Amino acid sequence: MQKMTVNTTEKYDILLGAGLKEKVAELLLPFCPTKKVFIITDDIVDRLYGEEITESLNREGFSAEKFVFKNGEASKNISVLSEILEFAALKGFKRNDLFLTLGGGVPGDMGGLASALYMRGVPIVQMPTTLLSAVDSSVGGKTAIDLKAGKNLCGAFKQPKLVIIDTDIIKNLPDDIFACGMGEVIKCNIIKDLPIFDYISKGAVKQNIESVIFDCLALKKEIVEQDEFDTKGIRNILNAGHTVAHAIELLSGFSIMHGNAVAMGTVIEAKISEKLGFCNKNTAQSIENAVKSSGLYFEIPFSKEDIANACILDKKNKDSRIVFLLPEKIGSCREVKLTADELINLL
Ligand code: GLY
Repeated sequence: MQKMTVNTTEKYDILLGAGLKEKVAELLLPFCPTKKVFIITDDIVDRLYGEEITESLNREGFSAEKFVFKNGEASKNISVLSEILEFAALKGFKRNDLFLTLGGGVPGDMGGLASALYMRGVPIVQMPTTLLSAVDSSVGGKTAIDLKAGKNLCGAFKQPKLVIIDTDIIKNLPDDIFACGMGEVIKCNIIKDLPIFDYISKGAVKQNIESVIFDCLALKKEIVEQDEFDTKGIRNILNAGHTVAHAIELLSGFSIMHGNAVAMGTVIEAKISEKLGFCNKNTAQSIENAVKSSGLYFEIPFSKEDIANACILDKKNKDSRIVFLLPEKIGSCREVKLTADELINLL
């Protein structure tokens, strides 16, 4: 098992290794003296691991309750959040009990926000079960639900007490869910020159999954520690590829999954960067190769105009211009602002 400490306002550890789900009771105990745990998960993850973890906690003398909602981004809304909070109150959870999120980005984001709100804040442990949540959303304290006006528009910063990543769970993901996480993994290798593109080209990502996740998290830790509350313009770098990705997600009505959209976003943004002369052909080509080899690239079913119009809604935009974090080379990105017309000409 590997351990990495994130030095935010309240520091916490990320534990990474095989078989950690068998040790959940032991790992939670230091953060839960009352031994009362509230598990927040979705129906798919519940079928796979929810019962097993609840039973193992109860066997070890914990009292574990579970709230299960329907899998998918559509659940990340205020009514499900409200149901979670009401359920916690009904079951008598107190401020010194522990919330545990089990799942991908949706349970992590929504459970995280519930833990920030319930009784003005209760401790939370994040246990990501997708590659995407393991390398990105479970770490760094961003929690949120979606509003009708847009994704993640209602949220809070709430750092977890601990993040537990069981690499056996990640290795056993269905191919499409694993591939989806590769969108964020590829983004990490664009921001920092890591050995991951090499693993991708050799078809060796799963064999090296612990080191892949570790490298992505080391990057995330480095950035989050410098800009925990996303106010200094440093954390924005984690949004490389995300301007176009958010537009694609929005245009698809969120039927294209976030990681797939990020993968497409990285390819399109690299081509924009190449056309602007900020990166060379090799850089753009290596990003496209990584995406294609991960089984992620497909034709984008939207017009240039639709993409540009959707980019105008991006939260990062400044001075009525669309903000991109474009690659200069593998391991370096720069902020670039474009008007919608400039973007259409570059797409
Ligand atoms: N997922 C981007 C961030 O944590 O800032």
